[in-house]
Amino acid sequence: MSAITILGLETSCDETAASLVRRHADGRGEILANVVYSQLLDHAPYGGVVPEIAARAHVQHLDGLIAKAMADSNISFDQLNGVAATAGPGLLGGLLVAMMEGKAIALAQDIPFLAINHLEGHALTPRLLGDVQFPYLLLLISGGHTQFQLVQGVGRYRRLGTTIDDALGEAFDKVAKLLGLPYPGGPEVEKAARQGNPQRFAFPRPLKGRDDCNFSFSGLKTAVREAVRGLPTLSQQDVADVCASFQAAVCDTVADRLRRAFTAFRSHHHNSAAPTLVVAGGVASNQRLRTLFEVESKNAGFALSVPPFDLCTDNAAMIAWAGAERLALGLVDELDFAAKPRWPLDAISIPAYGSGRLGAKA
Ligand code: KG4
Ligand code: ZN
Repeated sequence: MSAITILGLETSCDETAASLVRRHADGRGEILANVVYSQLLDHAPYGGVVPEIAARAHVQHLDGLIAKAMADSNISFDQLNGVAATAGPGLLGGLLVAMMEGKAIALAQDIPFLAINHLEGHALTPRLLGDVQFPYLLLLISGGHTQFQLVQGVGRYRRLGTTIDDALGEAFDKVAKLLGLPYPGGPEVEKAARQGNPQRFAFPRPLKGRDDCNFSFSGLKTAVREAVRGLPTLSQQDVADVCASFQAAVCDTVADRLRRAFTAFRSHHHNSAAPTLVVAGGVASNQRLRTLFEVESKNAGFALSVPPFDLCTDNAAMIAWAGAERLALGLVDELDFAAKPRWPLDAISIPAYGSGRLGAKA
């Protein structure tokens, strides 16, 4: 099989992104161009992503980003072997933007169209960056997803656990909001926590000790809200102490869930001599959590792979790479492929029981 060059497009949430990636004949990946327009400032005044604003911003920026990616990599459209676009899960109005544009390019160039599951993009990223062999354990922690997946191969996933209510990044964002910190809250909470006392508030450790790999964060968030309500005023030190205590509860819970997931992985793959834990998603940039992943994976005999920040958060290189891996296996899609706002990686896993107000986070 010769080298494959793919244009990848990502518009599923609040990042508009285009990238060119090459999969060499020996399976090695190379990023030729990777451009992202982050809509953070467009949404910041509202304290969260506004779907209509996101969709309009994707329409406004995607053309320019594709042109820049093509120019940065010095690739012309007739050198492409395929176009990959995120087809779900995500906000429908956004998904349609990259899908329509990707389909139009595929049609005009008469090349394959690849409809990519955004989660598969995150899941396969470590193979773009290095020689990571299947099977491996994936922990995805972002603003929309918190789940463990057993990654057995391209298109072959088994969900080991998921959140039954809020995603971890969502919990960070909600805690930040109720403390009056700006959006997105994760980095703000982490920064404030550095000056705080993690023992001042005894917040719950949700699901700790439970014999599965699921997560739950809405009770923890409620406990934080009640603690804040109980304070006569909210000083800077109070904010720091709440953040530190919240982060300590998160770390304790994640460590416990991670140990369960290591055990679950080994029960499925006894023979995997040197398994890898891959962590992806914006929350993976949290320093306290990174240290925890290093310690816990070392103790459990797992190698650790955490992609650099710009490939942990939403980007189109991961979409292009998933497209290249799929095309190399002959897995292409039709031009009438419909966007899927909800699209679990592991289609046979039923939604986690007690899934939250918005349903299980796929
Ligand atoms: O993967 P991502 O960029 O976007 C999606 O959710 O799709 O993740 C964003 C999430 C936000 O909830 C943000 O607050 C959180 O990641 N986050 C963090 C940190 N940096 C970003 N959470 C905790 N600590 C951080 N340092
Ligand atoms: Zn993502």
